[in-house]
Amino acid sequence: MLTVTENKNLAQIVEAAVEKHGARPDAFIPILLEINHDYGYIPAEAIRLARKLLHQPEEHVLVSEGQLFGLASFYHMLHTEKTGRHVVQFCESAPCHVQGGRELWKAVQQTLQLQAGETDPEDRFTLKTVSCLGICGVGPVMLVDDDLYGNVTPDQLANIFAKYE
Ligand code: FES
Repeated sequence: MLTVTENKNLAQIVEAAVEKHGARPDAFIPILLEINHDYGYIPAEAIRLARKLLHQPEEHVLVSEGQLFGLASFYHMLHTEKTGRHVVQFCESAPCHVQGGRELWKAVQQTLQLQAGETDPEDRFTLKTVSCLGICGVGPVMLVDDDLYGNVTPDQLANIFAKYE
């Protein structure tokens, strides 16, 4: 649940994003990216506010909230829930899985002491699984924030995660 202060900040962030990119439905993705960047993730309230500012009345919904969430989930860089300072996204699709992904996934969970969907108590890392990132040739693959790691082995994990404080 957002606090009053967070709500106010969120409204300001959404307004600034809409102002920057224009109150047009085709500006929706850049607006989402901006909100994601400035607020850290995209709460449902942000989508409601953005829709309002984009003049999408209920009876003329160009894109439904469910579709917007689907869209947001599709873009790996967008998050619809609060995350830690760094987000680890682990490819769980079959090609990566058979190239050492299964063992690597166990090692990632062990190293971070997290299960999929969890954030550590210090808000340092959030661990997520994602479907194929389109670079199966260098699997197993994981993303840490915007950094893509391929051919990852369990013994590399400590060094990789140490880069993210
Ligand atoms: S299966 Fe992992 S990147 Fe394609």
